[in-house]
Amino acid sequence: MALTFLVTGASRGIGAALATAIASRGDKVIALTRNELDVRSVESVRAARARVSGAIDVLINNAGMTGGPQRAPGMDLERAAQIVDVNALGCLRVYDAFADLLRQGRGVLVNVSSEAGSLGAFRASSKPEYAMSKAALNALTLWIAARDPEVFPVSLHPGWTRTATGGDDAPQSAAETAEKMLAAIDALGPMHRGGFFDTALHPIAW
Ligand SMILES: NC(=O)c1ccc[n+]([C@@H]2O[C@H](COP(=O)([O-])OP(=O)(O)OC[C@H]3O[C@@H](n4cnc5c(N)ncnc54)[C@H](OP(=O)(O)O)[C@@H]3O)[C@@H](O)[C@H]2O)c1
Repeated sequence: MALTFLVTGASRGIGAALATAIASRGDKVIALTRNELDVRSVESVRAARARVSGAIDVLINNAGMTGGPQRAPGMDLERAAQIVDVNALGCLRVYDAFADLLRQGRGVLVNVSSEAGSLGAFRASSKPEYAMSKAALNALTLWIAARDPEVFPVSLHPGWTRTATGGDDAPQSAAETAEKMLAAIDALGPMHRGGFFDTALHPIAW
């Protein structure tokens, strides 16, 4: 039976590739771009929710942004606040608005995280606000796992990918990453609920 996916940040990069891959395999995809759902705005997220009806089986919280190199003093704190707002709070807004539709479907919530958000395998090369934002997103995954038994959240690191965020030197295309992410989502089982994984479903340290 065809599943219904909702993908945020579907204008380009991994989100666009996910939408294409989901549609091409015959599943239904609600692919939302920023002008349809700006994750920084509660009003925009709620307006998007009002336009969607029916159960959602898999919600992919993909919209995200990254920063540039930072060095104190004189860090770009405005940009840093935007990144945390989009990458962490944005996913919270989307979960809050769409949780009822998720609970009507399979309830799988994929928070697109990053190994940069791992505290246990911390890499000093990560951009600080990006690492903070993804660590905060991982906390949301854990919180939902603990508090919302009808939702199946995971944090998924897509792997280094050639996009505006990943840059030109990344080893894989957005299409390759999307296929790997969908294979990982297809393979999720009860033991993965509330975990943090790469696309081979190998656990990543929180
Ligand atoms: N690429 C990598 O190597 C890599 C590695 C680890 C994790 N990730 C994560 O993977 C996800 C997708 O990244 P990507 O590489 O595909 O990046 P990307 O090519 O830069 O695309 C980012 C997407 O997020 C959207 N977006 C940004 N701010 C938004 C907002 N306020 N509301 C709604 N949409 C918004 C963008 O929309 P606009 O077109 O309107 O700007 C765009 O569709 C992100 O969460 C990223 O952190 C990527």
